[in-house]
Amino acid sequence: MKQQMITKLLTGMVGLGIALGAATAYASPEKDRQEMVKYYTEKYPNIKLEDYVYGALAFEPDAKAQYDAIMEFPPFDSMVEAGRKLWETPFKNGKTYASCMPNGGKMIAGNYPMFNEAKGKVVTLIDALNDCRVANGEEAYKVGDTKTMGYLTAYMRTLSDGMLMNIKAEGPKAMAAYNDGKKSFYQRKGQLNFACASCHVQNGGVKLRSELISPAVGHAVHWPVFRGGDNLVLLQQRYVGCYRSVRAISPDQGSTMMNNLEYFHSALSNGLPMKASVFRK
Ligand code: HEC
Repeated sequence: MKQQMITKLLTGMVGLGIALGAATAYASPEKDRQEMVKYYTEKYPNIKLEDYVYGALAFEPDAKAQYDAIMEFPPFDSMVEAGRKLWETPFKNGKTYASCMPNGGKMIAGNYPMFNEAKGKVVTLIDALNDCRVANGEEAYKVGDTKTMGYLTAYMRTLSDGMLMNIKAEGPKAMAAYNDGKKSFYQRKGQLNFACASCHVQNGGVKLRSELISPAVGHAVHWPVFRGGDNLVLLQQRYVGCYRSVRAISPDQGSTMMNNLEYFHSALSNGLPMKASVFRK
């Protein structure tokens, strides 16, 4: 009898522990996001949260008007079109990307990066596309290659336009990856000793040298971008540029460090609508 009670008590406690663990693991990224949103909405009460997807343009009405005009006839359409051809061309075995991505590849980009428990690591959308290639007997593309992976994602991500960013970090391993990305985001680095947060949190919406700095909230929803209208830049490629701008050595695109950074950074945009392939200056 006593034994039974103890067992019951212990099982109950384990159940409770799991429930609490899940709740805290889930609450943390949401809390981080809410805190950052609160920071911005208090600092800039006139800017609507949904306008953060426009980055620095949300703070510059003239530049935003110019952006809207350019986006009516995007100068990079032919590159997105090249991506559509890549997406639709069957692999040698006759299968397609659509046949091996969840939901035929539609309305899923906002779920990435996601933590893959079986692999024990973060998988970006680019990794998922490469996994699909390899599973079908094709070679993986180089993660930062513009004319293959760049074009492919430029089209594929448009299939998720309007989906709300929905990054999840649940369970201890996912949370460890998330926290690793968070550390990279807040750690000062480079000869100039800046963290991502020094510019994109503290100075988001502020002019630094001659450039208006975009806030981190809303950063991850609109990739790739076409700088100057025709220069395709992937999200991690932009990270590399920012690392270099503070004269820091950048981790490689596709490395665990970069993927974890993208995981944390993307979760800050949770709830905002995706819009792939946009103009940036
Ligand atoms: C010295 C300041 C500085 C630091 C530090 C910095 N950036 Fe940037 N970043 C910029 C500037 C300037 C731009 C271009 C203007 C803009 O869109 O903010 C930019 C642009 C970006 C963009 C593109 C925004 C868009 O909508 O096109 C992303 C994403 C980004 N940075 C992420 C990061 C990450 C992640 C880190 C840390 C690894 C980082 N940045 C560190 C200055 C910085």
